[in-house]
Amino acid sequence: MALYSEKVMDHFMHPRNVGTIDDADGVGEVGNAKCGDIMKIYLKIENDIIEDVKFETFGCGSAIASSSMATEMIKGKSIHEALELTNKAVAEALDGLPAHKMHCSVLAEEAIKNALKDYFDKNNIPYDHKMYEEMDHEQLHNQVHGE
Ligand code: FES
Repeated sequence: MALYSEKVMDHFMHPRNVGTIDDADGVGEVGNAKCGDIMKIYLKIENDIIEDVKFETFGCGSAIASSSMATEMIKGKSIHEALELTNKAVAEALDGLPAHKMHCSVLAEEAIKNALKDYFDKNNIPYDHKMYEEMDHEQLHNQVHGE
C-alpha cells in the first residue's frame, strides 16, 4: 500500500482554502516544538456559522493535507461543530495518515480551536477554559506516538 492515500496526495497537491482573511473574526496559530512546523487558521464567523476559513502552513505535506481537509470540514458549519472536530476525524476523512504523521493532523485541530478561542475572547463569549488547559500539544503528540 502506498504510504499516503490518494486523498492526502490530492489535498497536498491542490490544497483548498489556502490564504488569509484580512478582517478575520478569529485567528489561531500553533506550532509543533518537535518538527518546528507552524499552522495558522483564519475564521470569518457570522451568526455562529463559519462563513469562511483560510489557512497558512509552514509545514510538511501531511500538515498541508490535514489543514486543507479540516478547513473543508468546518466551512459552513456551526461553531459548535467546528469545536468538535478532532484530528482523528480529519485523518479518517483523508483515508488515513501514517502513524508517525498523525501529529500533523493534531496541528490542524489545535489551530482551529485556537482561532475559535480568539473569537470567543474578542467577543466576550463564555467558553469552557478547561478545554484549552487540557490542550497540551506535547501531551497530544505523545498520545499519538504512544510515548
Ligand atoms: Fe511537522 Fe508534519 S512533520 S506537521
